[in-house]
Amino acid sequence: MATMESLIGLVNRIQRACTVLGDHGGEGMSLWEALPSVAVVGGQSSGKSSVLESVVGRDFLPRGSGIVTRRPLVLQLHKTEGGTEYAEFLHAPRKKFTDFGICNTIGNYWVLIFYDGLHLVRYFLVAAVRKEIADETDRITGQTKQISNVPIQLSIYSPNGLSLSFAFLLLASPLFLIVNLTLIDLPGLTKVAVDGQPESIVQDIEMMVRSYVEKPNCIILAISPANQDIATSDAIKLAREVDATGERTFGVLTKLDLMDKGTNALDVIEGRSYRLVYPWVGIVNRSQADINKNVDMIAARQKEREYFESSPEYGHLSHKMGAEYLAKLLSQHLEKVIRQRIPSIIALINKTIDELNAELDRIGRPVGVDGGAQLYTILEMCRAFDRIFKEHLD
Ligand code: GDP
Ligand code: NA
Ligand code: MG
Repeated sequence: MATMESLIGLVNRIQRACTVLGDHGGEGMSLWEALPSVAVVGGQSSGKSSVLESVVGRDFLPRGSGIVTRRPLVLQLHKTEGGTEYAEFLHAPRKKFTDFGICNTIGNYWVLIFYDGLHLVRYFLVAAVRKEIADETDRITGQTKQISNVPIQLSIYSPNGLSLSFAFLLLASPLFLIVNLTLIDLPGLTKVAVDGQPESIVQDIEMMVRSYVEKPNCIILAISPANQDIATSDAIKLAREVDATGERTFGVLTKLDLMDKGTNALDVIEGRSYRLVYPWVGIVNRSQADINKNVDMIAARQKEREYFESSPEYGHLSHKMGAEYLAKLLSQHLEKVIRQRIPSIIALINKTIDELNAELDRIGRPVGVDGGAQLYTILEMCRAFDRIFKEHLD
């Protein structure tokens, strides 16, 4: 068995292999697709962005009522060898969004304190990241309610890998330290076009969302609000269509705190209304009033924990509810998936080696620093990756 440490190294190598191979992946599945991604799907304002933030443990997404997420946001988390943590958008590669270690105002900055294993780490996330997402959305769509399927790509680079955010959630499971995981926040599914949106918007959104979640490497967080009947859940409907066996669908029930008095969601949570392969996880995100008051992640978590622990209905399930538990479930699942993928990654690398060999035979072995030499270098790296991955099979 590979240790957790070696798994960390392994995934970092997969990332590097992806970068090096780049265009050389050939047709068929690329290395990127061999790694899992996580996408949140659900109706508009069902709490998708809130859940994603809560699982990551950071405030960075625009949230609110109405259609706020109008372009897919692809977030990649990278581990660096040192230096400070920063965020960078693909559309503005030279602009680094950094944290400010000495800044302690709450107004413009969301102040989070993460418990990072043994150390208390202070972390300040720049509100500018959130503003840039909103501005960049408007740049493409205009300040309308139109959507665009051109993704915004945001990378967060951190010497702590994901430890800052995830170790806090997952003290027991260090796996999240490693994965250069891709998280995707998608626009919500809607039923009707509003204020100046084209009539096709309902189908356009569905097609966009579908194009992400139908990929077999995509883990689906199917978000359904508890204050609506589960039979009307767009998330479950779509998830069932693209993932018939349910092996990659996690059901998330938000807004438990907003249910009518005298009703509860036990039928859903205990799997009687709609049974899923993995158990439903109930969530209490920040309300709009909390967001307006800048209630931070730590306080929100605390409130959510207290909600479940003191709940007459859900008290007996409190250890299996909430964003922290969801993150733990996800991390365990990711570990399993990544381990399963190792053989196919090796196969892909071998295929690339064969293709590169054929290409080199065609253009001739390298004599200088030209295209051939570059191919040759890539070939050598492939062989090295192949050896490393094979070690992880035992
Ligand atoms: P999205 O459109 O699905 O991404 O939903 P958002 O995350 O933007 O949330 C929409 C609105 O619902 C925001 O005002 C949130 O504060 C609110 N909201 C989301 N989840 C909950 C919840 O569990 N409880 C309460 N009270 N409000 C929530
Ligand atoms: Na919304
Ligand atoms: Mg959203």
